[in-house]
Amino acid sequence: MPLSPWRGLGGEAFSMRSTFSTRLGAIAAAAGSAIGLGNIWRFPYMTGENGGAAFLLIYLGAVLCLGIPLMIAEFMIGRTAHADVAGSFRKLLPGTRWYWVGAVSVFVAIVILGFYSVISGWTLEYTWRALTNDFQTSVASAQLVTPDAQASQVLTMDFNAFATSQLPPILWASLFIAINAFILLGGVQKGIERASNILMPILLLLLAMLCVNSLTLPGAAEGLRFFFEPDFSKVTGQTVLAACGQAFFSMSVGMGCLIIYGSYMDDNTKIGKTALSVAGLDTMIAILAGIIIFPACYSYNITPNAGPSLIFITLPSVFVAMPGGYFWALLFFILVALAALTSTMSLLEAEVTFFDETIGMTRRRAIMVSALITWVFCVVSSLSLGVWNDYKIAGLNFFDFCDFITSNIFMPLGAAAISLFVGWKLDRQIVRDAITNRKEDSGWYLMPLIWALRVFCPAVIFLVFLKGLGLI
Ligand code: PHE
Repeated sequence: MPLSPWRGLGGEAFSMRSTFSTRLGAIAAAAGSAIGLGNIWRFPYMTGENGGAAFLLIYLGAVLCLGIPLMIAEFMIGRTAHADVAGSFRKLLPGTRWYWVGAVSVFVAIVILGFYSVISGWTLEYTWRALTNDFQTSVASAQLVTPDAQASQVLTMDFNAFATSQLPPILWASLFIAINAFILLGGVQKGIERASNILMPILLLLLAMLCVNSLTLPGAAEGLRFFFEPDFSKVTGQTVLAACGQAFFSMSVGMGCLIIYGSYMDDNTKIGKTALSVAGLDTMIAILAGIIIFPACYSYNITPNAGPSLIFITLPSVFVAMPGGYFWALLFFILVALAALTSTMSLLEAEVTFFDETIGMTRRRAIMVSALITWVFCVVSSLSLGVWNDYKIAGLNFFDFCDFITSNIFMPLGAAAISLFVGWKLDRQIVRDAITNRKEDSGWYLMPLIWALRVFCPAVIFLVFLKGLGLI
């Protein structure tokens, strides 16, 4: 693995640690982390349901005022300390308990990765189904027996049977975790950076092709209207909070993944510009995903639904009806699987660096241990949708419980902690140096950033948190 020297806060050379080899590589990796299932199924649906362009405007506000400052803060922590999440806090504020924020983030990464890899495994199964033309065949054979069976009914049954079964989802998720581990074994430059440099352009190309297809479908305009038409009557306090939560999840902020990617940036990377590019790409792709999904649904008179059923039931029903549906279905599921892969890589890397640098394992062993722990969480998550569905924690099955505690409790808390840490605790000179690249850049946004991190972000996050717990 190519190594480059890195320096401690006092300027002393510590040891050798990898960095991304190019600025574009750093952007591709961080954008890869941000762009994922959150963009492709969560964002379009939320926008459509929460007032279209009205929600989009609030979402853009959340990205700009919360997401970007937090992303800069995470890059700053990582790039200054050049260490794993816990190690970064320890290095920047030695002798305090702040490193617990990092240690808890690693736990959060494990929990998110546990259920996220289950859904990622589904995307592999659905890529396979698209490849083997399974949607068509399944609907056709059901209609032989019951001629008036609707495609969406058949595909709903197929999806439920698969998601609640025991072995197949676990096998696909295991394969997914193994692919992640394999990429991370290549290290930072030859693993993460190379994979991101290859996968992200493919992702953009697939998106562009799917978009052109959707926009040329008959009736596309109605779908676009559903997605974009501003309906301010639907905007409530709840909408604002939903937009903030979506911005955190989609931008991967609040749980340390971007601290790790920041730690691989070299000291000349402009963290403000990088954050802006990553946030821009993340938002653009979320919007493009909506442009792909809604015109297609409206064109075939299929009501867009929420959550997993949107991509695993609704869209396959659309593909079955669409000319060339075989091809478009295949492209779409490859797209979703790739998007999921680049996000899970960052989550696994957050675990790996912790075991490697804080616990002191070799990277290879850290990868094995992280993959194994993740796999255990993933198996329990997957089984909790089927055979173990009766075991509830606070009224939720394990899968939903993990989803709930991470996005409603740990991510907002992590984001608030990171924001307060950089806003109040981190030495001002370190912040200034990070923003201005040691006085080489103007760093005009230093003061707005500091105040966003000191007051605005923690206050808004606090509200999101209380709302998430149902306390307001
Ligand atoms: N941002 C990813 C998505 O949109 C999810 C994610 C969250 C990835 C947190 C890493 C850390 O799907």
